[in-house]
Amino acid sequence: MSVNGPLRIPIGCKSIDKALDGGLLIGSINLMYGEPETGKTTMAIQCAVNCARRGYKTLFIDCDSTFSSKRLAQIASKNLEKIAESIFLMRPENFKEQTLVMEKLPNYLTEKFGLAVVDTITSFYRAEVAESPKKTFELNRELNRQLALLAQIAKTHKIAVLLTSQVRSVLNETYESIEPVATRVLKFWAEVIIAMRPTEKPQIIKAILEKAPNAAQYITWFLRIGEGGLYECLHL
Ligand SMILES: Nc1ncnc2c1ncn2[C@@H]1O[C@H](COP(=O)(O)OP(=O)(O)OP(=O)(O)O)[C@@H](O)[C@H]1O
Ligand SMILES: [Mg+2]
Repeated sequence: MSVNGPLRIPIGCKSIDKALDGGLLIGSINLMYGEPETGKTTMAIQCAVNCARRGYKTLFIDCDSTFSSKRLAQIASKNLEKIAESIFLMRPENFKEQTLVMEKLPNYLTEKFGLAVVDTITSFYRAEVAESPKKTFELNRELNRQLALLAQIAKTHKIAVLLTSQVRSVLNETYESIEPVATRVLKFWAEVIIAMRPTEKPQIIKAILEKAPNAAQYITWFLRIGEGGLYECLHL
């Protein structure tokens, strides 16, 4: 862990941060995966805001083009200008550009960075597999190489890497064949894994801590997605 860097980056939900000994793990890959609209991007923005509040910058690689200044303003609420100055946005337009961004990451990350987010790391991968199924093997290898690069960068630059990935509970033929591979690759590299699941109540999601250095078993929380981000709630 860095002497000068942050020790952890809080997610902003007290009980989850407690279970994680303070938040996202520095020097490691942290993964949040789940169904659409389960608050993954919201949580990633929340982490970037908390990182900025501790005086560290975030590189936010927005592969979905869903990062919005409006959402950032709602989540940050105070000191927006200062927080926004600490978040650097990159928007690759295809899987190849995503690879280039990963390869060049060491050039972008100066010592005051605490976090790099890739939201959503599997979007371009998934689109390309759907378009050219024959290239699946090659694309899997490339995804794995990106993960290896990110794991190395997390260690050498002493930052937390946060990845989001979308899964669907109702699978069509394409997802059925590709999704388990992508999820397996991500889970292999991640040292912290949080699954986000929808519930029957709109705006309420279930967060399941599947893996963390000090968590011996799965821990579950219910969270509400609101204007200011994700809040813990005691009941469904
Ligand atoms: N200002 C707000 N107040 C309350 N809820 C909001 C607000 N802005 C967005 N949401 C809700 O947040 C949810 C989407 O969250 P988010 O974009 O973080 O999900 P996601 O898991 O990243 O989705 P995807 O898989 O599509 O990328 C939606 O249900 C949306 O209604
Ligand atoms: Mg999202």
